[in-house]
Amino acid sequence: MDCAYCHQSVWDSPHASVPAAQTCMNCHNPKKANVKGASPLLAPVRNSYDTGRPVEWKRVHKLPEYSYFNHAVHVNKGVSCVSCHGQVNEMPVVRHDKPLTMGWCLQCHADPHAHLRDVKDVTNLSWKPPPGKTVNEIGAAIQKELQVAPPMHCQACHR
Ligand code: HEC
Ligand code: HEC
Ligand code: HEC
Ligand code: HEC
Ligand code: HEC
Repeated sequence: MDCAYCHQSVWDSPHASVPAAQTCMNCHNPKKANVKGASPLLAPVRNSYDTGRPVEWKRVHKLPEYSYFNHAVHVNKGVSCVSCHGQVNEMPVVRHDKPLTMGWCLQCHADPHAHLRDVKDVTNLSWKPPPGKTVNEIGAAIQKELQVAPPMHCQACHR
């Protein structure tokens, strides 16, 4: 499944939304598509759907209030989820994969080319460059094409 099926707002808003039980029930509703509709693992989702009370979100990534981050700006310039969250598609439970410190943000901002790819490949976390091309060559071309120039000044992230 594509990341944006569930994290719908990631392409057009600062925050990547976390899905409601309704999204899961598109497939797991015992009365409709019924994929594993009776699974005990899905009891919290069925319960949330029936009662309208959201499943409690165990938040993993959280920057301090005084710093500003925006998903849409990054993914629309070809920065993949994998650069900041690691190989989520292979994690049984999502965990912190990168430090998310200011130094880490600035390291990429100073020279982003190795982290850029075609925008259509952003949610393909196992993406590899086609034969004969390197990640750096592709990234450098994308940087030029999309005129990527991440900010280094304090006010960009401390508003
Ligand atoms: C079937 C729906 C679904 C899909 C598809 C999905 N996710 Fe998620 N994701 C969730 C839900 C639900 C949570 C919240 C889980 C919790 O609270 O324990 C979550 C949590 C996360 C988090 C942690 C958020 C936090 O708390 O900081 C990250 C990062 C994440 N997903 C990235 C991805 C990426 C990258 C992909 C694509 C490879 C992806 N997700 C695909 C449903 C999905
Ligand atoms: C597009 C369809 C689809 C959506 C939407 C979807 N799933 Fe699934 N889910 C599947 C499929 C397919 C399987 C694997 C079923 C199998 O192994 O036979 C699965 C399996 C699961 C299982 C394992 C159940 C078991 O007993 O092994 C859990 C738990 C689960 N999904 C949770 C979720 C949650 C939580 C959401 C919403 C955030 C969600 N799914 C959204 C299709 C979907
Ligand atoms: C440039 C780094 C970066 C990229 C690229 C990125 N994220 Fe994030 N993500 C973050 C940071 C930083 C946070 C914590 C944001 C906060 O606390 O305000 C976060 C938080 C999240 C959350 C929790 C909800 C939220 O918005 O706070 C989800 C879900 C998530 N990311 C999913 C994704 C998915 C899916 C992708 C790819 C389509 C992605 N992220 C790409 C850095 C990134
Ligand atoms: C892997 C590379 C990478 C990482 C890591 C990264 N960024 Fe960025 N950032 C970019 C790129 C690429 C852009 C887009 C620059 C452009 O549009 O020219 C950008 C743009 C921005 C912008 C400008 C937003 C706007 O509205 O103009 C802000 C703010 C920002 N990043 C904050 C952060 C913060 C905070 C972190 C760390 C939590 C971070 N970034 C980590 C690559 C990265
Ligand atoms: C690309 C985004 C970005 C830019 C640009 C940036 N910062 Fe930060 N800054 C962050 C993030 C994210 C944090 C929170 C994570 C951390 O503490 O490392 C932070 C934390 C801080 C802190 C708190 C550190 C601590 O130890 O508690 C200070 C002070 C700070 N920044 C000052 C600055 C100044 C001064 C500038 C300009 C010279 C600047 N920042 C530029 C993203 C940025």
